[in-house]
Amino acid sequence: MSSSQNNHPETIPNQPKHVGIIMDGNGRWAKIRGKRRIFGHEAGVLKARELVETAVKIKLEALTLYAFSSENWSRPKKEVSGLMSLFEKTIEKYTSLLIDNNVRFKTAGDPSTLPDVLKRKLEQMESITSENSGLKLTLAIAYGGQQEIINGIKKLIDDHDNQIIDVNDLTVESFNEYLSFNDLPELDLIIRTSGETRLSNFMLWQSAYSEIHFTETLWPNFEEQEFLEILQTYSLSERRFGNVDEDTELKEA
Ligand code: FPP
Repeated sequence: MSSSQNNHPETIPNQPKHVGIIMDGNGRWAKIRGKRRIFGHEAGVLKARELVETAVKIKLEALTLYAFSSENWSRPKKEVSGLMSLFEKTIEKYTSLLIDNNVRFKTAGDPSTLPDVLKRKLEQMESITSENSGLKLTLAIAYGGQQEIINGIKKLIDDHDNQIIDVNDLTVESFNEYLSFNDLPELDLIIRTSGETRLSNFMLWQSAYSEIHFTETLWPNFEEQEFLEILQTYSLSERRFGNVDEDTELKEA
């Protein structure tokens, strides 16, 4: 992290606690430049690094990055293997950056589908940073929201069979314990780049009340300034979780 920078953004009042980013548009960014898709993914990694640094600077509590979906396995073999080795290199390259910045790193997804070397490196990074108390950074990798919910239901059925839980006692809060991300603050805001307006299987359970911001910007072009503006807009918006506050009702009466 460059401490020599003067333009340190500051914590924004009422900023979201937990932001999820669907980093989309690497392929198109590369194509515009007449380059291979992996070139775009490499630029995407640099952008992710930049945004993690911003998140640290503004003391964001949690940041979740969607790096590889369960559905991304159906991409051309060459792109998938290129991405896997890029993830490996990224973990190696940025371990010390995360340690120096007190970042706690975790993954969400199905690690059993990942190459062994990558799986080990991710586990190492999780364990090395597990005591850190700063930004909670989660990489959603080989992750799908529907799969996450199904896995949660399987664990719930196990607990039911072992008489650990009475299904009549099941609530939104208690089911949350069977899912990923359950040690993180609520997902306040999702940002998706590149103009696509879908969630694409990202944090389906956790997004029930999230604000969602779609931007046309391709991920490698997504600048700190735009990120901060989106956070500002969020901080000014009123989130009521389906309730009507009393003042509004009086005004409407
Ligand atoms: C979307 O672009 C991006 C991905 C499929 C995942 C890869 C993401 C990165 C390499 C960025 C950060 C990674 C880490 C490890 C923090 P796309 O290929 O879907 O783009 P397109 O829609 O333009 O084809």
